[in-house]
Amino acid sequence: MASLRQKASREMISELPNESTKGIHFTQPCDALEREPFALNRGFCMIEYDSVTKVFGAGKTAVLATDNVTFTIEEGETAVFLGPSGCGKTTMLRMTNRLEILTRGNIRVRDRDIMEMNAQELRLAMGYVIQQIGLFPNKTIAGNIAIVPRMLNWDRKKIDERIDELLQMVKLEPDIYRNRYPVELSGGQQQRVGVARALAADPDILLMDEPFGAIDPINRDMIQDEFLKLQAQLKKTIAFVSHDIHEAIKMADKIAIFNEGKLIQYDTPEVILMRPANKFVSDFVGADRTLKVLGLLRVRDAMNPTPRNVIQGRVGADEALKFMEENNFRHLLVLREDKVLGYVTRKDLKYEQGRVEELVEKFPEELGHRDPLREALSAMLMHDIVSFPVTEDNGSFAGTISYQRIQQSILELYAESQDD
Ligand SMILES: Nc1ncnc2c1ncn2[C@@H]1O[C@H](COP(=O)(O)OP(=O)(O)OP(=O)(O)O)[C@@H](O)[C@H]1O
Ligand SMILES: [Mg+2]
Repeated sequence: MASLRQKASREMISELPNESTKGIHFTQPCDALEREPFALNRGFCMIEYDSVTKVFGAGKTAVLATDNVTFTIEEGETAVFLGPSGCGKTTMLRMTNRLEILTRGNIRVRDRDIMEMNAQELRLAMGYVIQQIGLFPNKTIAGNIAIVPRMLNWDRKKIDERIDELLQMVKLEPDIYRNRYPVELSGGQQQRVGVARALAADPDILLMDEPFGAIDPINRDMIQDEFLKLQAQLKKTIAFVSHDIHEAIKMADKIAIFNEGKLIQYDTPEVILMRPANKFVSDFVGADRTLKVLGLLRVRDAMNPTPRNVIQGRVGADEALKFMEENNFRHLLVLREDKVLGYVTRKDLKYEQGRVEELVEKFPEELGHRDPLREALSAMLMHDIVSFPVTEDNGSFAGTISYQRIQQSILELYAESQDD
């Protein structure tokens, strides 16, 4: 493990701009960093890959790592590069900041051919999380995060504030971790520092190579959520490598699926799941792709905002029972003003005199309108309840979600995708 870290760190050293690099003055912001603030320009191609081909070696041992790959990443978008081991994902990233040189084709960043740009400038303008983490073992966590801000001559106070802000973002308590060395952190914690370091100087473009790969599923999920929240504000342009379809669906605006160096399909997660281009893609996304679509849709997309089987808790049991029988309802949702108290069945109400609210059974789980439909379905299966109330962010009643509504919304989505 230690030797892997050392190897990775050596790689980082050769990859990061060297402070003593002759002729490069980090005291002056480089051209790529000295831009006018600009409004986010969705639809503007931030990174354009044009017939990008990379051959490693020559003759009999030559490896075609990427083969004539053409696609674009728009400003503010996250493109996830997805595919099996060895399909060329890391090579695509490394060519983007010129750590590898293309054999044929070209890459443009903000409309400029990267081969005409200064390589150090290009790298400074892009945060890079490398697959092997690659923290400097002889620098503290703070020192690692501060590398690029120091090169850019930020003042000390600003750097310290930035370090704490980023450590908090990646859920590492600054007071505990700031002065530790990488070897004193677990692999997953080091990976989080790697993400913090890539964000340090607030670059517009992030290249992230399996950035959460070493983090356990629970923390990974939390950090992905934090990262998505941050991205919703910062709108970085991100090339994100993953081999995990769940992560790709969660993080991507677009997914680029590669196989043996070729780009097989590039589209939104919905289209990739619902209209895989060929058998390779459908096998890769999995036979349960409909269930995966449920991870993309939100409860609010499928809920009934105006269910009729709702009653206020102050109503008498006998009146409520009559209302149920007249309408043939199997349950009633019981509210107090706009808050859900629970539900009652006809059996609960029979022969009772009091108010409905004294007889309610509570729902075992609450569903928020932003929750993925997958969670709603899971709650229904787990608790054997066919319809759940849905709440707004402030806890007030928003509607109900049922099996039927879920099925209907999936069918509608399939129908829409066939019409496109
Ligand atoms: N420096 C190199 N010299 C020779 N071949 C290389 C080199 N780097 C990568 N390759 C080859 O290029 C192909 C693509 O490698 P790459 O690292 O881009 O794959 P990947 O999709 O990132 O895989 P993984 O998911 O395992 O990280 C592989 O066949 C690999 O062996
Ligand atoms: Mg790789």
